[in-house]
Amino acid sequence: MSLASASPADPAALEQLVAAKEVIVACGSGGVGKTTVAAALGAAVAARLGGRVLVLTVDPAKRLADALGLGGIGNEATRIPPAAFEAAGVKPKGELYAAMLDMSESWDALVRRHAPDDRTARQILNNPLYKNISRRFSQGQDYIAMERLYELHEEGSYDLLVVDTPPSRNALDLLDAPSRMQDFFSSRLLQWLTVPYRSRLINMASRPFYQVADRVLGSQLLQDLADFFILFQTMREGFVARAAAVDRLLHDLRTTFLLVTTLEAVPGREALEMKAALAERRLHLGLLVCNRVLPAALTDPDSQEAAEALSAGAGDLARLLASGAGGGPEPDVTARVIEEVAASFSNFRQVATRESELARELSSLHGVTATVPYQPGHVADLAGLLQVGATIWGEQPKPGRRRKA
Ligand SMILES: Nc1ncnc2c1ncn2[C@@H]1O[C@H](COP(=O)(O)OP(=O)(O)OP(=O)(O)O)[C@@H](O)[C@H]1O
Ligand SMILES: [Mg+2]
Repeated sequence: MSLASASPADPAALEQLVAAKEVIVACGSGGVGKTTVAAALGAAVAARLGGRVLVLTVDPAKRLADALGLGGIGNEATRIPPAAFEAAGVKPKGELYAAMLDMSESWDALVRRHAPDDRTARQILNNPLYKNISRRFSQGQDYIAMERLYELHEEGSYDLLVVDTPPSRNALDLLDAPSRMQDFFSSRLLQWLTVPYRSRLINMASRPFYQVADRVLGSQLLQDLADFFILFQTMREGFVARAAAVDRLLHDLRTTFLLVTTLEAVPGREALEMKAALAERRLHLGLLVCNRVLPAALTDPDSQEAAEALSAGAGDLARLLASGAGGGPEPDVTARVIEEVAASFSNFRQVATRESELARELSSLHGVTATVPYQPGHVADLAGLLQVGATIWGEQPKPGRRRKA
């Protein structure tokens, strides 16, 4: 059974899903193709269904960023010109916009929004620790992506937002980012950090720690840390309310998740975990994309028969080739090459069979599943994205449209 028939793409169900949603959040393990699939889905929706579609990417590969007109950094959305679609052989029904998540700009905007007044905002923004902490706060990246999504949704300028997510060590972190942000503000750690430095010194329990910290870090750094967290605390109310609103948007009926995975063992297992985690948190998983899968032809029984015949007849075939006009290489050499090709096909077939079993497991209990075959070369231009989009829509890849790596 071919992989395509194991998990048929259902264009009608996909169109229904996309029409019913305003937000699609792409999630999955690192490197599986979240950015590519999110951009391809956005491009396909703009081309096929119309409306204003925004793809919010995080750290796209340089060539993909260039293809989407995202040369410079910044949160500003750029429209992909209709001429770019036409050059790729497509007349778009709608409009496609792309934006890149700018962490620094987004953090600064959050501080300006939630600080009690301009003076406090300036103090936080100018605090020497702020820039370091905000950019390196790893959970912050996940939160900022969701926060920016919320802001764009509130603005209401687009019919559909397709959001890529940061390459996190643990894909589950993303789902919990808003509640973690709320927890952080009520955590004992933050409360402890914001107790004035002097009074902490006289606390017997923390004295040994402070004596060491003071010697290693210096009192100035400890003072800066305390100042920073005291300032940060002033934003507590705004941050907590906002994080709760972001969490509500993720759970909203208008939001769905797009789980992207490859069918290798580790990402496949993580995708199964992610699927369970989404269900546990009552987050809607609307679309599963199995990316970079091996071609369905590998699991075709006729192909296997041909490989076996090739292997069994390698000697005869090699002799036949050597006896042709102009001769040829030694029949033994040719026979070995033919046997290698047949053996290599069988190996790939085994991997493809395992992939299709995993795809079936992943797609069970699930509505819309799509498979995207491995595309030769990188997916780095609009034509490539539209081709990936077409396969998400269940179309077979067109032969003769290979791009150079
Ligand atoms: N179907 C495909 N065929 C061939 N190459 C692909 C395919 N999908 C993605 N790629 C390539 O795989 C690489 C990783 O893709 P991408 O950057 O989209 O992954 P990601 O999940 O966003 O990674 P990260 O977790 O680092 O953000 C890129 O070079 C991309 O061009
Ligand atoms: Mg990415």
